[in-house]
Amino acid sequence: MSGKRFHVLVVFGTRPEAIKLAPVIHELRRFPGQFKTSVCISAQHRQLLEPILRWFRIPVHYDLDVMRPNQELCELSARILDRFHAVLAPRRPDMVLVQGDTTTAMVAGLAAFYHRVPVGHVEAGLRTLDRYSPFPEEINRRLVSHLADVHFAPTSWARINLLKEGIPRKRIFVTGNTVIDAFLETHARVLRRPPALAQLKGFKLEARRLIVVTAHRRENFGPGLTSICRGLQRLASQRDDIEIVFPVHPNPNVQSVVRPMLAGIDRIHLIDPLEYPQFVWLLSSAYLGLTDSGGIQEEMPSLRRPVLVMRKNTERPEGLHAGVCKLVGTSAEVIVRTVGQLLDDQQAYARFARRRNPFGDGKAAQKIVATLKHILASAPGSNSRRVRALGKPPI
Ligand code: UD1
Ligand code: UDP
Repeated sequence: MSGKRFHVLVVFGTRPEAIKLAPVIHELRRFPGQFKTSVCISAQHRQLLEPILRWFRIPVHYDLDVMRPNQELCELSARILDRFHAVLAPRRPDMVLVQGDTTTAMVAGLAAFYHRVPVGHVEAGLRTLDRYSPFPEEINRRLVSHLADVHFAPTSWARINLLKEGIPRKRIFVTGNTVIDAFLETHARVLRRPPALAQLKGFKLEARRLIVVTAHRRENFGPGLTSICRGLQRLASQRDDIEIVFPVHPNPNVQSVVRPMLAGIDRIHLIDPLEYPQFVWLLSSAYLGLTDSGGIQEEMPSLRRPVLVMRKNTERPEGLHAGVCKLVGTSAEVIVRTVGQLLDDQQAYARFARRRNPFGDGKAAQKIVATLKHILASAPGSNSRRVRALGKPPI
């Protein structure tokens, strides 16, 4: 490797990207002789992002400050493109590292490509093959795959998806999902030192079985979310053996449906989004999760608790095949019936608990950084040339 350090500019904007990139940033920073690590936040999310930055002690070098209330995809994309260009152009890092399928990931990848800066994509290759679900994330993620030079696929399933789209074999590395690294580390810290839980005080959650709910997907806005809330109303009125805790996403399209439909109902507790350690603690106390979130589908199997996915499809079929997740869609009737089965049929419940988490083992960030080191050692020339030449690392 040449004397010049490899400059990785890590870019993200939302809560899940921050959680999933935190382990990678830490791992890169363990090797300051080899990597210069800079962090740029678009701040596509503001309130949801800040506690994550604090919890994982992520230093921020550039803040694009793009969030607006009820932001629309085109104007958000335009702001990120313009402002990220201003960061990228004078600095020209050796690689821009993005994660997942958000507007920030897609637009930062595009800007890097326009500047001919190599792109690394963490959590590459997830697909539903349905253009409008998740919307717009399915197409965002596919676009990033075609902008990126190096693809970190969490599972071999994701790797196969990339191969089918013509991504060269030597550019794809199966690493596990970095969310498991973040989750296991946080869970261990929370077990050692339980977090303060001001928002949950007085709920007497331990007396009944706890159901944790989250919902925020754009394709569920309107009828889907209304139907989810109807299902929760019925569950709360039919069952006195449960407590439902629902941290409500700040998106106005979520708030304006969930609060009027569910506030004040016995056994339903609407709270603000929890900071990550508090949320991990809540999940670890849950009987089951009911969610349309991607990250929660991946995290809950580590606790060996069932996750019911309130979507018509998922880009994470590994959970369905492993028997740790189940798709229930947004129909109130199906949600009520399936939750009822898991409350009443202990054998059905136990089947979820026996399975291994298919999404990772907590070492994904190590594998990603080991791959980058190998790439750097693999060919002569400039850093970005090495990325383009790309040798096959040993994982
Ligand atoms: C985005 C991601 C989605 C991810 C979700 C995580 C895209 C296309 N989608 O959702 O994949 O699952 O984030 O939560 O990038 N808001 C706040 N404060 C915050 C965050 C959001 O007030 O800290 C409100 C704002 O009014 C904002 C709105 O929520 O305009 C929507 O945020 P946005 O990031 O655009 O949401 P999604 O695109 O739906
Ligand atoms: N999460 C959190 N607090 C909450 C709800 C979720 O810290 O109140 C975490 C959760 O553990 C997971 C991530 O946020 O790691 C998921 O983010 P989100 O559901 O917003 O996005 P998605 O995963 O669907 O893209």
